Amino acid sequence: MSNVPLKLSNRVSKAIQAKSQSYHPEIMNKLKELQNGEGYYSEFCGWYDYPSKVAIQASEDWQSQIESIGVDYDSLVLIGVGGSFLGAKALYELFAEQTNKEMFFAGWHLSGLELSRLFSKIQNKKPLLVFISKSGTTIEPALHFRNLYEWMRFKFKDEAPKRVIAVTDKEKGALRGFCNRLGIQSYVVPDDIGGRYSVFSPVGMIPLLCSGAPIEPLLSGADLFYEQLRSGLNTNLLKEYVGIRRALWDQGRKTECMLYNEPAFEFFAGWWQQLFGESEGKDHKGILPISSSITRDLHSMGQFFQQGTPVYFETFVTFKNSLDNLPFIEKCSDFEDGYDGLIGKKIDYINHLATEATMKAHHENGDVPIMHFELDSLSLESAGYFMSFFKVAAALSAGLFEVNPFDQPGVEFYKAHMKDKL
Ligand code: PA5
Repeated sequence: MSNVPLKLSNRVSKAIQAKSQSYHPEIMNKLKELQNGEGYYSEFCGWYDYPSKVAIQASEDWQSQIESIGVDYDSLVLIGVGGSFLGAKALYELFAEQTNKEMFFAGWHLSGLELSRLFSKIQNKKPLLVFISKSGTTIEPALHFRNLYEWMRFKFKDEAPKRVIAVTDKEKGALRGFCNRLGIQSYVVPDDIGGRYSVFSPVGMIPLLCSGAPIEPLLSGADLFYEQLRSGLNTNLLKEYVGIRRALWDQGRKTECMLYNEPAFEFFAGWWQQLFGESEGKDHKGILPISSSITRDLHSMGQFFQQGTPVYFETFVTFKNSLDNLPFIEKCSDFEDGYDGLIGKKIDYINHLATEATMKAHHENGDVPIMHFELDSLSLESAGYFMSFFKVAAALSAGLFEVNPFDQPGVEFYKAHMKDKL
């Protein structure tokens, strides 16, 4: 993969185009600041260029350390919340077929029902616990880890500590102390990388490696984005996306909805929501990121999207080449639904038509401004590229709003109030 594997087109008014272009010089200045580590970008930017600076080289060591744990496992439970789980979750849901261990998720809620359902699912399994928490003290993952680790001790006795892998701060926090005392295999969350920017660090890569997913193509796609940025090949993509979003916000379109037609993309959209929501949503500014599944939500939310209060714009994500061996529409002689003309066509072809019809209806009949990302294919390479693109776009866009992309004071308040109540 050497060309830009991502195309962006838009259906917005001439006035929005012009306003967007007026932001281009400022966006390019922000990009320079990011590359030089200046202004808002003088700290917490370890994620920039991380694939080539660290991850590609380190991945072989990560792999061999995981292979050396010396226990037989058939699945893993990733325990983490927010930026400590969404990246791996997004990629696992998209590429589960490329893994050889089932992944379960805990630590992202405080529901007893959900936790007991998890115990039912793993009761006959031999899992690893992959506990990811930068602070090591976040309440959701901490409480789940307690129960899961006690279950592990009961079931696997002395082998329990070998069945835990941790990703946490290099020296601070309860989880680091636990690792040191019990000799748990552990990895470091780099100091200069915040949760929502951490997917290519051990935070996202260790659970994926444990699941057997090949991370090389992911990292090479992620790296390609930075390589092309150095030669200026994809700066137009950044200018267009960041500029149009901002021009639409100025015009009163305060919400961006990402619409996708692959259900497995749901958590990628969730990862994107955290990235933009936590980076931009400060000082009463920023675009509210929401997401929606086509065609599922066309039967529930489509009406509002097209004709409700015009506060929002849409960003579609589609894939140009569909995968091989996907189902064709069958002949079914007993069922007369009027769709016999479609026999032999791929279901994905109909999905493609439905997406085009949605864009046309929303834009032409509903006046909704639209952007459209088309990825070459649903592959690890293009997912890596897309994530790198969004991380840079979020950092620049927050800078354009004049807010710090890398803090989350609101989230910290929730954590503090929770501690008081306890
Ligand atoms: O992006 C962030 O920083 C947050 O979403 C954190 O990842 C989340 O709150 C979990 O924190 P921790 O990794 O310290 O458990």
